[in-house]
Amino acid sequence: MKTLITAEEIANRIEELAREITAFYQGKALTAVVTLNGAMPFASDLLRKIRLPMYVDTLGVSSYVNNQSSGKIHVRSPLKLPVKERHVLLIDDILDTGCTLANTVAYLKDSGALSVRSCVLLDKETKRSPGGALSADWYAFRIPDVYVAGYGLDADEYYRNLPDIKIFS
Ligand code: IMP
Ligand code: MG
Repeated sequence: MKTLITAEEIANRIEELAREITAFYQGKALTAVVTLNGAMPFASDLLRKIRLPMYVDTLGVSSYVNNQSSGKIHVRSPLKLPVKERHVLLIDDILDTGCTLANTVAYLKDSGALSVRSCVLLDKETKRSPGGALSADWYAFRIPDVYVAGYGLDADEYYRNLPDIKIFS
C-alpha cells in the first residue's frame, strides 16, 4: 500500500491544530468527544498537545445507511459524561459523505451542549450527501477521493494501528 501521509507529517500538523484549538477554547468549559473506533489514535495525539483543562469522553455511533438525511444515528456506545453547559469539541476520523458528522453534531446539540465544533483528521474530496456536513471546523488534511487505511482508519477493521495513512488498494 502506498503511503499518502507519513507519521511525521501527521505529528507536525497536529502541533498546528492543537495551537489553534488551545487558543479558541481559552476560558471555556470544554469536553472533547472522541468517536470510536477510528478517531482514537488521532485524538490521543491531538489531546495531549492541547493545553487546556478539559473532560474527555467517547461516543460510538453509526449512521443509518438507507436513511441518510433523517438526522438519525444509532448510538453503539453512549457518552459517559453529561454535555449540558459544556462546549463540545467532536473529534472524528474522516469526513466522507458527511452524514455521520452532521448527525453526531445534531445529537450532541440535542443532548444540551452549549456549542459543538468538529475536528477531523481527514476531509475527503467527495460529493457530500444531502443533509451531510459540508465541512468540519478544523481538519488536519484534505485528501482526494481514495480509500485510505491506517492511523485509526480501517479496511474491514484491520490496519487501524499503522502509524502512517496509506492508500488501500
Ligand atoms: P460519512 O458519514 O460518509 O462521512 O462516513 C464517515 C465514516 O466512513 C468514517 O467515520 C469512516 O468510518 C468511514 N470511511 C469513509 N471513508 C473512509 C476511508 O477512506 N477509509 C476508512 N474509513 C472510511
Ligand atoms: Mg470505519
